[in-house]
Formats: sequence, structure tokens, C-alpha cells
Amino acid sequence: MGTSSAPGVRIRDLAPEDLDRGLLDSLDALRPASGADPGAVRRAYGEIRANPNHVVAVAIHDSRVVGTAALLVERKFIHGGGLAGHIEDVAVSAGHQGARIGTMLVEYLLDVARRRGCYRTTLDCEEGLVGFYTRMGFERRGVHMRVDHR
Ligand SMILES: CC(C)(COP(=O)(O)OP(=O)(O)OC[C@H]1O[C@@H](n2cnc3c(N)ncnc32)[C@H](O)[C@@H]1OP(=O)(O)O)[C@@H](O)C(=O)NCCC(=O)NCCS
Repeated sequence: MGTSSAPGVRIRDLAPEDLDRGLLDSLDALRPASGADPGAVRRAYGEIRANPNHVVAVAIHDSRVVGTAALLVERKFIHGGGLAGHIEDVAVSAGHQGARIGTMLVEYLLDVARRRGCYRTTLDCEEGLVGFYTRMGFERRGVHMRVDHR
């Protein structure tokens, strides 16, 4: 694990300048994001930055963000008060997909989760991405359930 690489691409934690260097454009691959209200984006960034249990990784190519993924670390009462990792919002810009950047982002966050002491990491995905995540060590477990509040 953790051995994938795409030439000229570096993975690191999110930095303030990334908001103006393509972070939202890369998220467009997942859901429309680049048209979001700038004030709301700044507020979200402030909240995310203040939470040490919310880690956002970015893939940088030519000083631009070309991919992103997030890890939430949850403290539990069960499992001996252990930590569980949750991966969310994995997205690679349309023009950069298929170059192993998604794999690099997820492997980076799995490494963070391991180093933070998480006993497991989970995520939800579409059926078509089961192979993509299986190659990184994920196993299919349980059923995804959801309620929409609005
Ligand atoms: C899914 C996604 C993050 C993968 O990132 P990526 O950088 O393109 O993926 P990689 O280059 O690391 O792909 C590794 C493998 O997964 C496969 N793969 C990638 N995206 C896939 C998809 N949508 N469906 C099926 N297989 C896919 C690739 O073909 C590749 O397989 P190979 O090694 O046999 O050629 C990216 O395609 C993306 O942003 N998609 C739109 C948003 C999305 O669906 N996000 C996932 C939310 S769970």
C-alpha cells in the first residue's frame, strides 16, 4: 500500500491558498462546487481548519489542485475508546482522472488514519468503484443507508 505515484503530482494537506488554486474545480468532478458562494466557502474552510479531526488532502500539479479527499477521525465509546476513520469526497479533476491521483489521495489518507491510531477506515461508494477501492485494501461490508433532511 502507499506506493502509487503520478509524475509531477504531490499529495499534501490542504493549505489556505488552495481555495484559489482549483480546490472547488476539482470537487466539480463529484458535485457542482466551483459556483459556491465565496463567503460560505471561507466559513466552511475556517471550520474545517479548526477541526484537527478533519483532514483534507489535495493533489498538486503545476501549482494547481487537481484532486482532493477528506478524512474524518471519530472517537468511539466502543472498541476501547478507539478511533475510526471515515473517508469522504474523493474527487479528481476530469482532465487528470486515470493517472493514479485518486489512488494516491486515498493511500495518503489511509496512512494518516494509521498514524493517528485508527483501528479501521470506512467509506461509501458507487458499485462501479468497488474495484478501485478493493485494490487499496478495502472490503465490501454492510449496507449503505441514508435519510435526506432536505
Ligand atoms: C473515482 C476517482 C476519484 C478515481 O480517481 P482516479 O485518479 O481517476 O483513479 P486512479 O487513476 O487512481 O484509478 C485507479 C483505477 O480505478 C479505476 N477507476 C477510476 N475511476 C473509475 C470509475 N469511475 N469507475 C470504475 N473504475 C474507475 C481506473 O480505471 C484504474 O484502474 P486500472 O488501474 O485498472 O487502470 C475519479 O475518477 C473521480 O474523481 N471520479 C468522479 C468523482 C467520484 O466518483 N468520486 C468517488 C466518490 S466515492
